[in-house]
Amino acid sequence: MSTFYLTTPIYYVNARPHLGHACTTIMADAMCRYRRLAGDRVYLLTGTDEHGERIAQVAAAAGKSPQAYADEIAAVFQETWRRLGITNDDFIRTTEPRHRKVVQEVLQRLHDAGEIYFGEYGGWYCYGCERFYTEKEIVDGKCPDHQTALTFVKEKNYFFKMSKYQAWLIKHLEDNPGFIQPDRYRNEVLGFLREPLQDLSISRPRSRVEWGIPLPFDDQYVTYVWFDALLNYYSAVSDPENPKTHGLWEHVEHLIGKDILKPHGVYWPTMLKAAGIPLYRRLNVHGYWSLGGSKMSKSVGNVVEAFQLTDKYGHDAFRYFLLREMNFGLDANFSEEAFVDRLNADLANDLGNLASRATTLIAAAGAVMQVIAPIEPGDREMYMAAAETKSLVGHAMGEFAFQKALAELWSFIGAVNRYVDTNAPWALAKDPAKRRRLERVLCTLADSLGFLGIMLDPFLPDAARKIRLALGQSAPPTLEAAVVGRLTSVPRATKISGLFPRVDTKAAPTTLSLQRGPGEGAGGDAGKIPITDFQKVELRVAEVLAAERVPKSKKLLKLSIRVGEETRTLVAGVAEHYEPGDLVGRKVVIVANLQPATLMGVESNGMVLAAEHGGTLSLITLDRDLPSGAKVK
Ligand code: MSP
Repeated sequence: MSTFYLTTPIYYVNARPHLGHACTTIMADAMCRYRRLAGDRVYLLTGTDEHGERIAQVAAAAGKSPQAYADEIAAVFQETWRRLGITNDDFIRTTEPRHRKVVQEVLQRLHDAGEIYFGEYGGWYCYGCERFYTEKEIVDGKCPDHQTALTFVKEKNYFFKMSKYQAWLIKHLEDNPGFIQPDRYRNEVLGFLREPLQDLSISRPRSRVEWGIPLPFDDQYVTYVWFDALLNYYSAVSDPENPKTHGLWEHVEHLIGKDILKPHGVYWPTMLKAAGIPLYRRLNVHGYWSLGGSKMSKSVGNVVEAFQLTDKYGHDAFRYFLLREMNFGLDANFSEEAFVDRLNADLANDLGNLASRATTLIAAAGAVMQVIAPIEPGDREMYMAAAETKSLVGHAMGEFAFQKALAELWSFIGAVNRYVDTNAPWALAKDPAKRRRLERVLCTLADSLGFLGIMLDPFLPDAARKIRLALGQSAPPTLEAAVVGRLTSVPRATKISGLFPRVDTKAAPTTLSLQRGPGEGAGGDAGKIPITDFQKVELRVAEVLAAERVPKSKKLLKLSIRVGEETRTLVAGVAEHYEPGDLVGRKVVIVANLQPATLMGVESNGMVLAAEHGGTLSLITLDRDLPSGAKVK
């Protein structure tokens, strides 16, 4: 039995869980489920990154203490993973004492060993990224990530002597080709290392940033958020009192998105080396999802919340799409059309139809204790196809290539569907002389479906369980049992129907209804209007400058918005769906020429547009950034 300890990034608590976070967490979950199926000792860690000035700012904007704010969003992450069926063994928060203790111990150890010194550094700083940028990285004088102006910051700080590990790290990467995978990311890290490596500033003065772990050797400073965050992977398994985590560390592998390659590929191994902690086994890096071709980002407002699609189409379909559509390591584009296409073709058609026709045929024949008909070449081909699929899936999973694993499984599903077509059990059933052959065919079919009930488990846990239950298998699945050719009976089966219902693509995928301003009647009818009526409505882009709850109202938020040069106040009925802090800095679409209305004593000048479906509200935002005041037509 081997041990496998896998981590996801710990997510910042300044945003709610979205498709990107869900993707990494689902990949990690699928991998861990696979390794558990293989009989390994598995430990999955996820959590939240809660310190730093960005979090403090967002909390302040929401009128909360950073801790209260972090508690709230951390709970949303936990609840999201629970609802998505994520099988994490632990959830670490960087504000927990168990984490703080380890961070301080490691800092003290590095300080005592002379790995940390006090110095002054001046450079271009991005408050959004909470890091300095080198001249080379700066694009048009701006942060390459946020496209916002950088600030020249000069301050005294503590530095970790990272530069002294440059040659060692290059050698380590060269000697261990699999240390960072896929290869393109190992090459990218080697690329960073062609430039001289700077020392890493690991503190922030308390006068500027309060919200962090105090340095154990100087309480005028708090720990730099990345130095604090990376150590979560280690602190979570370092409690000597917790036997569940003993012996895990030396097996740790990380799974991250490509955006955080540098801290994980450069800072983290050098930190571990300096602290005398064994290095991680492997860093696995996936690409980025974009939406309509542009990066998913809060400021652009094209964020897909984790639940939008699972609520609509189910967990398994959501998992399947994320795992199947992204080639591990490369970027992928998300669209609801592509999602529905895959759902209909792969899940409803290929797998759903197979499960329903196979169980119908098996159930109709009734159980057969002992199948005695000879095995024909067509049966043997299925045995071999299953063995080959299992080995290819194993190989793909070894490199986190979920898309390959699923493609292999779907090619097996295709083979089983063809086996059914070729052997036409419905025709065999009509001829009593062919009863024995029918039993053999149904035995192979039940065996193949049972194989899928195990092999699909990491990817489609709900559907796989339904398949196993339909075949009367209630024991926990194991990879060892995933063999076609051993079964000598036809099980008593129950019919499966509608495993994945088809989605009607002719019907509009979502019924968008415009959110009316509070206080207005629902009004309106389905009658058509001339375009000139529509043109009377002035729709514009507005930027939310500030947001607060309207006292004594559950539903209303008071927004201060900018429309071009003008600033105005508007009341929106969105308080049950958005926190005030979620809205600040976002661009929304408003009806700009509504007559003012007073709501709960606040005068509202305009109305924010939102879509609503099944109780979920989604603000209409822009998928490309445009200045506030821009006309919407
Ligand atoms: N807190 C840091 C990580 C510290 S780990 C010691 C952080 N947090 S984050 O909330 O911004 O999460 C970043 C991670 O979320 C990415 O590395 C990736 O795993 C996931 N993703 C966020 N957006 C994503 C996409 N658009 N596409 C794919 N994954 C994305 O960085």
